[in-house]
Amino acid sequence: MQLSISKRQQLLAAVSALLLLASRAEAGHDGDAPPATPCAAADRAALLAFKAGVAVDTTGILATWVDGGDGDCCAAWEGVSCDAATGRVVSLQLDAPPPATPRRRYMEGELSASLGELAFLETLVIRDMARIGGGIPASMSRLSRLKQLYLEGNALAGEIPGDVLSHMSSLQYLSLAGNRLEGHLPPELGSVSGLVQINLAGNRLSGELPASYKNLSKLAYLDLSNNLFSSEIPAFFGQQLKSLTLLDLSNNGFSGEIPASLCGLRNLTDLSLSHNKLTGVIPSQIGMISSLNSLSIDSNLLVGSIPESLFSLQKLWNLNLSRNGLSGSVPPGIRHGLPSLVSIDLSHNHLIGGIDHFFRSISPPSSSRKNASSDMSVIFLPRELQHLDLSKNRITGALPEFGGGGGAASLRWLDVSGNAIGGQIPSSISKLIGLQRLDVSRNAIRGTIPASMAAMASLRWLDVSGNGLVGRIPDEFARMARLRHVSFRGNKLCGKIPQARPFNLLPAAAYAGNLCLCGKPLPPCRRI
Ligand SMILES: *[C@@H]1O[C@H](CO)[C@@H](O)[C@H](O)[C@H]1NC(C)=O
Ligand SMILES: *[C@@H]1O[C@H](CO)[C@@H](O)[C@H](O)[C@H]1NC(C)=O
Ligand SMILES: *[C@@H]1O[C@H](CO)[C@@H](O)[C@H](O)[C@H]1NC(C)=O
Ligand SMILES: *[C@@H]1O[C@H](CO)[C@@H](O)[C@H](O)[C@H]1NC(C)=O
Repeated sequence: MQLSISKRQQLLAAVSALLLLASRAEAGHDGDAPPATPCAAADRAALLAFKAGVAVDTTGILATWVDGGDGDCCAAWEGVSCDAATGRVVSLQLDAPPPATPRRRYMEGELSASLGELAFLETLVIRDMARIGGGIPASMSRLSRLKQLYLEGNALAGEIPGDVLSHMSSLQYLSLAGNRLEGHLPPELGSVSGLVQINLAGNRLSGELPASYKNLSKLAYLDLSNNLFSSEIPAFFGQQLKSLTLLDLSNNGFSGEIPASLCGLRNLTDLSLSHNKLTGVIPSQIGMISSLNSLSIDSNLLVGSIPESLFSLQKLWNLNLSRNGLSGSVPPGIRHGLPSLVSIDLSHNHLIGGIDHFFRSISPPSSSRKNASSDMSVIFLPRELQHLDLSKNRITGALPEFGGGGGAASLRWLDVSGNAIGGQIPSSISKLIGLQRLDVSRNAIRGTIPASMAAMASLRWLDVSGNGLVGRIPDEFARMARLRHVSFRGNKLCGKIPQARPFNLLPAAAYAGNLCLCGKPLPPCRRI
């Protein structure tokens, strides 16, 4: 559904007005509300002790925290919000300003044990301060009302204190991402049964995933990416963590097979297992995860073929299976296609089969189009498709004829290089008018270069090298002023190179190994 621009603006204005109202109400500025109780003395003292633990603050936030006078910590201190009735601090939210300024803003120091005194705290955010180091103080185990704990983007070190976190019995959102935490995952965390989100990405965590996490039945978001985990993925993830919508285990050393039980996670939208050491096959039931939007299993050691069921995922917009040992044919046959597809990368595998079959299996059948009378052999790509990479496989067949509209206009990147594709370049390739990069190099494509390609006005990268192309480089190409990288190398081309930028300025190597090309940058053409 497309909203018109004015509708969108109205919507945005309404939303920001609501947010403003909400923030006023929270800060106790609403004109009709009774006057807010000033900051409780105990909380004020705890905050000042926290400030004392920060040796350097270039964000300017703590400069607003001044003692004495009318400095009500609830009203005047940046990042502090209180319960208007009790004057108790319920939220402490310290975000570094976005790094637009030339020098990165930061706070340097340690988390004070005084944070444990903020007994009514529900939200604690200390984010992107870069130089807040040390450990998570044991006193924080007293924060039994804490629902959100975000300590991301700091320099916290040591192990995750499981005993401290397990006392935060109200905790729902936990992020300690982007720190220097090491050691194993604390099994005690499995007892915090209200947890909805755990983000521990970007640390130095290792070891096993504790069995006690079975009890986290509300967990919707689990991100353990960019750590040093090397265990197997436990089967209980799929059997018990039924609320998972996002599971990111990428950039670790996870080994063993992908448990088939993961396919039972019916609410999963994002699954990333990229850059691990996973072996075996992609579970054939993967198509059961019908809610899946994004599946990334690239850079593993997977073998076997791509399960056909994968090509029934109607909501899938990102698929990356690149850099594995996948073999067999690209799933053939006309089904429903992958109508939501935006990006598909199957590069660097051992896939075989016809490229025309592949295009047919991702594209909605033409009978689903209004113009059902159109030629069945013409491919109408998925509507939003932008990126398609099949390079470095053993794919055969010929490029199909492309229809216009939809995906033909949105596709920006098409790379089928390093395969065994034959046939000719179809002149209907010019229907891919949004294409910025076209790489058909190192195949067995014959015939001439269609002059219609000159209409591909967005093209910046064109590589047709290492094929069996004959004839001339069409004179019409002189119009393609946006091209930055071009290679015609290693074909059987002949005749005059278009004498226009960039063609006459390219290195001669871009034309090497042809039959009889001439004109700048090669020697002039001679009359025979
Ligand atoms: C899960 O919770 C139950 C009770 O809620 C408890 O008896 C059990 O020991 C827990 N399991 C694990 C693995 O911690
Ligand atoms: C899955 O999502 C649906 C719809 O959002 C929700 O009603 C259901 O409770 C979820 N299931 C689990 C196990 O979380
Ligand atoms: C797919 O994964 C590979 C390898 O990890 C990566 O290089 C590539 O950029 C990814 N493709 C897309 C379209 O993101
Ligand atoms: C329908 O298909 C015919 C034949 O392929 C074509 O000439 C015509 O332009 C198409 N019409 C639409 C609305 O796409």
